[in-house]
Amino acid sequence: MTFKKIPVRKKIEELRPYVSGKPIEEVQRELGLETIVKLASNENPYGCSSLAKEAMIAEMEQASFYPEGLAPSLAEKLARKLSIKQDQIILGNGSDEVIRLLTRTYIQPNDEVIMADVTFPRYETNVLIDGGTPVMIPLMNGVHDLQRMYDAITENTRMIFVCNPNNPTGTIVQKERLRAFIEKVPKHILLVVDEAYYEYVNDGDYLETLPLLNNHANLVILRTFSKIHGLAALRIGYGIMDAPIIQELIKVKEPFNTNRLAQAAAFASLDDDTFVEQCARRNEEGRNYLETELTRMGLSFFPSHANFLMIKLNQPGKDVFEKLLTSGVITRSGHLLGYADTIRVTIGTSLENEKFITCLQNAINEKTSV
Ligand SMILES: Cc1ncc(COP(=O)(O)O)c(C=O)c1O
Repeated sequence: MTFKKIPVRKKIEELRPYVSGKPIEEVQRELGLETIVKLASNENPYGCSSLAKEAMIAEMEQASFYPEGLAPSLAEKLARKLSIKQDQIILGNGSDEVIRLLTRTYIQPNDEVIMADVTFPRYETNVLIDGGTPVMIPLMNGVHDLQRMYDAITENTRMIFVCNPNNPTGTIVQKERLRAFIEKVPKHILLVVDEAYYEYVNDGDYLETLPLLNNHANLVILRTFSKIHGLAALRIGYGIMDAPIIQELIKVKEPFNTNRLAQAAAFASLDDDTFVEQCARRNEEGRNYLETELTRMGLSFFPSHANFLMIKLNQPGKDVFEKLLTSGVITRSGHLLGYADTIRVTIGTSLENEKFITCLQNAINEKTSV
């Protein structure tokens, strides 16, 4: 008896699984290395606030009870902190989930979704899963080309993603350009501004989008506790948008999408502004150090405002990635991110950054001495 493959939806068959940054445990297993520096997934090298740790430990007692589905205490605290209304916030299982909820709720076959090429890959994947068509507009010198994105709008356009700072380049769009773009995008198109790295930005030319919410019912802002708050493993992020959009997303989300430990840790994190400020300052110091060293080595990079740098190499990023890996430093090869001759590195602690520079220097010397 021959078995036929169970038919899969065509759109799914065409997809490739997401390749995430290599986990420390996997590299330890594969290479037998004890000490690994992971600079691959833009996580916080300083961990999370001690207040978050205490909150998680206390909340463990409640682990046998389902969490509150809408995380109302956390939503209320966030709303107060951001001076918005509680019904303008939806918590997600990472901001990844909010992206998924948006496409699942609003995208159907023939709908077009405009995004940069290259940007955070989950936008494209979720649009494809939901049967929509991603419309990819090349970056201009690593920055969103908002004019071309605007020109790409058709009657089928349902959604636009602007990742600011952009992953993987770390670039931001100029304040007045983004403001003008938000003003002119037609109001029936959802305009999603992903600000996963918001807290790292220290530049007067960065647009504060929250004050625009009230006059732009199609504006969606995404933020997360995974990056500067150091809670990536707990999976908790949020979307800020007009309340009626949230009412639709709630119909699609899993009932208990954010867990108790995540809600408690995120709630406590909001009381530790000092931790956030320290992480942002150390990140900036680390970025300055890396930029100085890379310039000394004759390498260029996109001007980053986030906790990572995309470095241009004169050879395939994959080769340098592999060499760094064997010396115990995990980065991301640019061939997975749309720029084959680059690597993306997360800014680590000063020791991690120094190790990265030493290993990168060795990896590059190896190539030139052949
Ligand atoms: C731009 C951007 N958006 C969203 C996410 C997803 O973050 P999370 O789901 O951990 O909140 C990431 C993670 O790397 C990201 O870089």
